Amino acid sequence: MNWDTFQATLQAFQKEIQEKLKNVSTLEEWQELYTRCFGRQKGVLKQHFKNLKHLDPSDRPRAGKLLNEIKLDLEKRFENIKQKLEEQALEERLEEEKLDPTLPGTPSHTGGFHPIRLVQQRIEKIFERMGYAIADGPEIENEYYNFSALNFPSEHPARDTQDTFYLYKDYLLRTHTSPVQIRVMQQYPPPIKVIIPGKVYRHDEPDASHAPVFHQIEGLVVDKGIRFSDLKGTLESFLQELFGEQCKMRFRPSYFPFTEPSAEVDMSCLICDGRGCSTCKESGWLEVLGAGMVHPNVLREVGLDPEIYTGFAFGLGIERLAMLMFGIPDIRLFLQGDIRFLSQFHTPLLD
Ligand code: PHE
Repeated sequence: MNWDTFQATLQAFQKEIQEKLKNVSTLEEWQELYTRCFGRQKGVLKQHFKNLKHLDPSDRPRAGKLLNEIKLDLEKRFENIKQKLEEQALEERLEEEKLDPTLPGTPSHTGGFHPIRLVQQRIEKIFERMGYAIADGPEIENEYYNFSALNFPSEHPARDTQDTFYLYKDYLLRTHTSPVQIRVMQQYPPPIKVIIPGKVYRHDEPDASHAPVFHQIEGLVVDKGIRFSDLKGTLESFLQELFGEQCKMRFRPSYFPFTEPSAEVDMSCLICDGRGCSTCKESGWLEVLGAGMVHPNVLREVGLDPEIYTGFAFGLGIERLAMLMFGIPDIRLFLQGDIRFLSQFHTPLLD
């Protein structure tokens, strides 16, 4: 090989690579071309270096010089292009991974309130708006608060209707929230206006409408001049607030030892609008509350003069209202913890 050919091929090679380099648009293409040029074994430059020995010795110095110049020139160009491609790749990646702080976050799974708690809160809100305070008391009660102070005489059969779980001495699991009436009246002077939500226990055989543990909300208002009409008006606005304006209410005479007169309160059936269906046993009415005027004996028991103070009280079962509200057929569903049942009531914790 003579110098001219060597020089011509080398320069043609340089030109070719320079041109090709201009069209390289990805790092992969760049790598491919780079290996073709500078590959340790098969690289074209390597080949040219090998060709040196075929030249006349007097041509070798300038051939070597030219070869080095071209190598340096190409290396520099390759380096420049590589830098550009890397910057471009970085920009593309940043663009792809761009953070948009206005996108909504991934909500975490927080669970929700039990339907009983939801209904309880709804009821509490209604009474709070009417100016009621919320009180509570112990679930382990004694015989005095659960029965005697509420005017249940010792051997009175009314105690049998609320059979309970007896603990030690005269302690028992409270059968209703009414004992908290006594505790509140012992602690605060009238005017009293409270509701008392809580868990109660009865020694009942469980079935679709009975559970050994359930929830009540008690109401108690004591002041001078509280009348039966106040009780009626309060319960009517409560039921209409909870179930809608179309909801009608009626009182039926009843008996509780701690109220006189006593009433069982019905509301018009939600399901059939009062026309009669299987839920209301064709009567058009659903029993939802017990209520009455606080018995004079109860007022006397806490040191209030029934000639000066009067009051009304009511008690409702939360499960029963929740079953009507949501169309739940069996009270035992509330106690089973079945997530398929419970998750139907999931609502945001703060609504
Ligand atoms: N404590 C009664 C019950 O559990 C309900 C009730 C409360 C009735 C207040 C009248 C007044 O059945």
